[in-house]
Amino acid sequence: MGGGRLSSLAGVEAVAGQGESSGLAVGIDAVEIPRLRRVLARRPGVTERVFTAGERGYAGRFADPVPHLAARLAAKEAAMKALGVGLGAVAFADLEVVRRPSGEPGLVLAGRAARLAGDRGLRAWALSLTHTEHLAVAVVAAKSGEDRCGP
Ligand SMILES: CC(C)(COP(=O)(O)OP(=O)(O)OC[C@H]1O[C@@H](n2cnc3c(N)ncnc32)[C@H](O)[C@@H]1OP(=O)(O)O)[C@@H](O)C(=O)NCCC(=O)NCCS
Repeated sequence: MGGGRLSSLAGVEAVAGQGESSGLAVGIDAVEIPRLRRVLARRPGVTERVFTAGERGYAGRFADPVPHLAARLAAKEAAMKALGVGLGAVAFADLEVVRRPSGEPGLVLAGRAARLAGDRGLRAWALSLTHTEHLAVAVVAAKSGEDRCGP
């Protein structure tokens, strides 16, 4: 599926602020859950292309996985904003939402996403997710200075 189709799932989008000079980058994204539900029902292959095995496994533990998948899609798109790139520049699967023992989500970057982050000096990432019946929202923040990339 092309980026345009997935980007149309985002109901509300904005970049809160980003500056390489400050060493800080922020991205936010929202995904309309009913729209994602329709896309995944129509094109089940999208689930495997967009979400990692770990993400699918986590969401699959819930009676309704779609809000959890929607939050993860929002996180990937928010991370792209923090990286300063658009849809298609990095693979969705190279931005993985993981779960810490506390339940807090973390972001792990691989492939081109990790290289872009390295180029921008962004080494520490933080992520917050929320979802209601209709909307999933993710905020991603990244900063430079710490020698790690992930949770
Ligand atoms: C964190 C918490 C308050 C969110 O509850 P909520 O309002 O019902 O749910 P929301 O839709 O706003 O948020 C759900 C997301 O919160 C995130 N989350 C879960 N536990 C979290 C934690 N300890 N810290 C940060 N985020 C957390 C998860 O990403 C979750 O989405 P996911 O299951 O798809 O990954 C709730 O999970 C909770 O009470 N957890 C246990 C207590 C806790 O650790 N609180 C931390 C703040 S004091």
